[in-house]
Formats: sequence, C-alpha cells, structure tokens
Amino acid sequence: MAAPEYAPSLDEGENLSRDDLSALQLKRLRLTLEHACQHTPHYKEAFDAAGVSPDDLKRLTDLSKFPFTTKADLRANYPFGFFATPAEEIVRVHASSGTTGKPTVVGYTKRDIETWSAVVARSIRAAGGRPGMKVHIAYGYGLFTGGLGAHYGAEALGCMVIPMGGGQTEKQVQLICDFEPEIIMVTPSYMLAILDEFHRQGIDPRQSSLKIGIFGAEPWSEAMRSEIEAAFDIDAVDIYGLSEVIGPGVANECVETKDGLTIWEDHFYPEIINPETGAVLPDGELGELVLTSLTKEAMPIIRYRTRDLTRLLPGTARTMRRMERISGRSDDMLIIRGVNVFPSQIEEQILKERALSPHYILEVTRPDRMDEVKVVVECRDCVTDAELDNAARELRHHIKTMIGISTMVEIVKPGGVERSLGKANRIRDLRPNKGQ
Ligand code: DLL
Repeated sequence: MAAPEYAPSLDEGENLSRDDLSALQLKRLRLTLEHACQHTPHYKEAFDAAGVSPDDLKRLTDLSKFPFTTKADLRANYPFGFFATPAEEIVRVHASSGTTGKPTVVGYTKRDIETWSAVVARSIRAAGGRPGMKVHIAYGYGLFTGGLGAHYGAEALGCMVIPMGGGQTEKQVQLICDFEPEIIMVTPSYMLAILDEFHRQGIDPRQSSLKIGIFGAEPWSEAMRSEIEAAFDIDAVDIYGLSEVIGPGVANECVETKDGLTIWEDHFYPEIINPETGAVLPDGELGELVLTSLTKEAMPIIRYRTRDLTRLLPGTARTMRRMERISGRSDDMLIIRGVNVFPSQIEEQILKERALSPHYILEVTRPDRMDEVKVVVECRDCVTDAELDNAARELRHHIKTMIGISTMVEIVKPGGVERSLGKANRIRDLRPNKGQ
C-alpha cells in the first residue's frame, strides 16, 4: 500500500503506513510478550497454564491465544507484583482507587514516562494544540493519572502548563480569565461546574481565551459535546486512557474529523472481544476493548480487559484505527427489564430538551424484584412550570422510544444535583443487593 501524504507536523509513528505499522506492532508485541514472561511471575504462570509461549506469536492475530489480564490479577499482586523491572528503575507510581478493597498500582520507568509524555503530546496536537499555547489542567493531580499525565504531555509538546488540578472552582475561572489559556484539560462533568461558575460570576464563557477542550476520564455523549462547544465557543475533543495501560493518551480524537478516537497503535494494540465468551470480534462490531502495551518497560500489560465498550473503526485523519466514543463501562451498565442502558444514552435524550440541563443522576431502585430508574435532572434557569411539565413528559417519551425503557423523571432546581470535581458518578444505586 502506498503511503498517503501526511501533514508535515505528524511525528514518525503517526506517519507510518498501515503495513509498516503492522510490522512494527508485531516486532514490539513479541518483545513485550518475552519481557513480560521473563520478568513478571504472573505472566509466566498464566502463559504456562494456557500452554502458550511468546514463540507462538507468529502473526498479530496469534495474540488471541494468550490469556487475558484483569483488574483482579493486578489486585492479587498488590502492590508491586506486576513490575517487570528492578525497583530502582521505577521512577513513578500511580494508583487507581477501586470502589472496594485495594487500589491497583502501576509503575513507570524513565522511558515509560517519556513514552507516556509523547503520546499525550501527540494527543494534544491531534486536538489542535501547538507549542507555545497555554494549557490549563484541571484533572486531579496525585495518584490519579489525569493531572500528571496531561502535565508531562503538554510540557513535552512545548506548551506552558497551568497545573491547577481539580477543585477550587472559583479560582479555576479566575486563572482562566487572567492567564488566558487556549486549552483546557478536564473531565467533561467538571467543565460543566466551571461553566456554572462563569455564569455565577457574570462572565461570558464565550469571551474566554479557551479554544480547545480535551475531555475524558469518564463517558460523555455527542449531545454533551455540542453543549460544551456552544457554551464556551471551543472545539471539544475526546481523550481516552486508563492507568493500567498507561493513563490518558491511549487514544485521542483528531479535531479535524471529531469522529471517534484514534488509537495510538504504535504503542497500544487493541482488540474487541465478546465480553461473555472472550472471542475476538471483527472490526466494526461492538464489544469490550482489550488493550496490550507495545512499548512499556516497568509494567507491560497483556490483553487487559478494560470493561469499556466500543468498536474499532478504520482510520480517517490518521492511518491508525479509531475507536468509537466509549458508550460506557460494563460495570455501569444497567439492565432494566432486560434492556441494557448506559447513563450516556439517557444524557443524549436529556439534552434534547431545551428546558433541561446536563446535570443529572440516575437513581436505581428495586421495589418489586424489577429494577426501576428515576432520572433526577436539573432544569435550566428561567423556565416556566408548563415548560417543565412538557420537558418531563417529552423526556420520558424519548427514553421509551429511543432506548426502550420506562423511567420516572424528577426535575429539580438549578444546583439540585451534586457537582463532581473529577469523574462524575451518574448512578445512585439504592437497590438492596447492589447490581445483582
Ligand atoms: O481516567 C485516565 C484518564 C485521565 C483518561 C484523563 C482521560 C483523561 P483511570 O482512572 O484508570 O484512568 O480510569 C480509566 O475511565 O477504563 C474508562 O472506563 C474511563 N474513561 C477514561 N477516558 C474515557 C473517555 C483515567 N474518554 C477508565 N470516555 C476507563 C469514556 C473514559 N470513558
């Protein structure tokens, strides 16, 4: 295949033709499997139990012979059991807090930090960021990978970083107004809290210096993109990642197409599987994303089950494949009278109503063996009672016809739904045996 012409600003990895990319992936995958098998006892045992060895990888598709890795495997080896390099080569750890029990710990060598910074720099550039721009980072700093991941990536691109972190919403607005960043990196739900604060201070958010928002760490919808883009007069793009694989920067949307996230396939190998059977699905089919690192030293990760649901699509702005916006995590999927529902689907419907705001929570109860959902959503300012009645009726109707479930709708006043400072929790589970 002849290599198409690329924009000169793309880096070497982004410029690879599909054939060269596949060859590089195969080479890196072999090295990763060998490194993992030699240095991480868990992988050696899991490969032996499955009767496979790194030599069995002749083609990329042979990866399907290798066992999956799950969050439970990482927890069982808490804290440092997955590290594949000597402790003195690890220069950083991060951890993601689970809802129960121990966090999962991830480690980085100096080179891993460089790789991570490079993929985040590439992500920011794909979003339209350029050296010399100012980047306001409102992802949390600390054990969460969002803040420091974005920070190092923005610096690597040559941007001026404003390391604000999450919270102190009043100060967020002050710094945006005074320091005049072009780019903001934050969860989409916290961006909404910042939007509220602009309004509270009587400042027009469309007049701010912001041009680009790079939003991720939680599911969000196309309707939310339109909402935020219109409110701030910016381009809003999606960034994806997870700590177990590296952090933010596994995939990012290109601003020129805004059609799903380009996976940085020279560093991460994606597969989509049927979550029930584990079988690999062809590109285009919806299933669970499974990721394998191709260049990580401290903690190679083989076939990690992300629990995130998406599908793989051919490249558009880049030769690398895209993934569709994550519809949700299998853990967050509600099954309401047999219908699978994600909060982001309900969000789409809420934002069709002019009278309703993007602040919502889904309350799940089980009054009589069957799960029921109540959508608790804030109205916008200055709407009449008649408009509210109409909005509630329309929302119930749209959810029924578009998603196929009956819901109750409770509309509350502006400010009635708690704001998140980081990842939003959209589900309030009031069932006696949660999620069962
Ligand atoms: O959330 C890393 C990150 C930070 C990504 C900042 C983007 C921006 P974890 O805390 O380990 O890492 O959580 C990973 O968050 O498996 C998804 O379920 C969810 N997630 C991350 N990005 C997106 C996204 C960071 N763009 C988990 N859309 C993942 C939907 C996302 N869900």
